[in-house]
Amino acid sequence: MNIFEALRESHNKQRDIAEKLIQTSGDTEERRALFDQFKNELFAHAVAEDRYFYIPLMMTDSGLNITRHALAEHHEMDELLEQLTEIDFSNTGWLAIAKKLSETVLHHLEEEEHSFFQQAGKILDDKQKETLAKKYLTEYKKYLKADKDSLT
Ligand SMILES: [Fe+2]
Ligand SMILES: [Fe+2]
Repeated sequence: MNIFEALRESHNKQRDIAEKLIQTSGDTEERRALFDQFKNELFAHAVAEDRYFYIPLMMTDSGLNITRHALAEHHEMDELLEQLTEIDFSNTGWLAIAKKLSETVLHHLEEEEHSFFQQAGKILDDKQKETLAKKYLTEYKKYLKADKDSLT
């Protein structure tokens, strides 16, 4: 497996959860469970992707711009997640923020898969693509189980 295949697996999970999440309403078990799943998935993916995809790319001149752009979007998603964590599930504004987060995530995934991955494909060699996939997956699995708040 190469790094792009590994990243796409989580992207597909994110798309699936996002679609279900924006169909929930009110303070329900379903909304709580999906939000928890979404938060964990986004968090584990972003930590592992930052460390084992973007940071190595950032060390190259041609990778600098895409890396800055992507990290800024990760930060934007993090802030929307934070907002959703702070308001009640029953709040009428919850869904509007969830939709904004979902749109931001979908846009980000599109850009990664259709632009950044192509550019990164030219920067990394085959060996790096495989090594990064292994490191990314180990990190991703580790953070999928971790509590986000324990890091702050
Ligand atoms: Fe990604
Ligand atoms: Fe990303």
